[in-house]
Amino acid sequence: GLPPVIAVDGPSGVGKGLVTRWLAERLGFHRLDSGALYRILALAGHRRDIDLHRGEQLAALAARLSIRFVGTTEDDEAILVDGEDWTHDVRKESTGALASLIATQPPVRAALLQQQRDFREAPGLIADGRDMGTIVFPDARLKIFMDASADERAQRRHKQLSAKGIEARIATLREEIRARDERDRNRPIAPLKPADGAQVVDTTGLPPAAVLEKIEALLQRSR
Ligand code: C5P
Repeated sequence: GLPPVIAVDGPSGVGKGLVTRWLAERLGFHRLDSGALYRILALAGHRRDIDLHRGEQLAALAARLSIRFVGTTEDDEAILVDGEDWTHDVRKESTGALASLIATQPPVRAALLQQQRDFREAPGLIADGRDMGTIVFPDARLKIFMDASADERAQRRHKQLSAKGIEARIATLREEIRARDERDRNRPIAPLKPADGAQVVDTTGLPPAAVLEKIEALLQRSR
């Protein structure tokens, strides 16, 4: 059969990166950062002056990009696109906003579907995104949906960006995150929502260690 998948979905800044990196390390599985694919495609389109509402053109571009993910931790991560280091720009909140714009378009989602499924390799995959459990890997062995209050997510994202040397005002960030989530939750295709059978984990007020304890408990119960 196909290698097992664990799907981790949720809104921006909720801690999916922490959880999926930890799970990948813990189980020795591969990891898919599906949001990065949307970010890269949005940035590539923007840099080539493609109108970001032209889904078909973006889909054609997606097929031509060569993307490599290097490193496994947040600190040693590098994102190479056609051999160039795009890590810093891919992580900006403005790129997240462009990503959520293009992510509403069916041709874009269709173009990225197989690319995402290609990450499913032995011994298994931890998939991080918005529609991992609902659309991309509906047969995932374990589906986790993480959530947290918008204020807390804005604060976490702020900390994370400043650690990477990316400046952002917290009030602006909160507003950007709110707008992006609203778009992700309300779009007609592949909206952000818990998959059937997903385990919902609310991490509001929880330090990272407590979040990982909850995830470990879910892992044990799913065996
Ligand atoms: O997770 P990240 O913040 O990198 O995602 C950027 C944007 O890409 C999201 O706000 C969402 O609009 C889109 N996305 C998506 N489906 C996914 C992952 C990300 O639509 N599986």
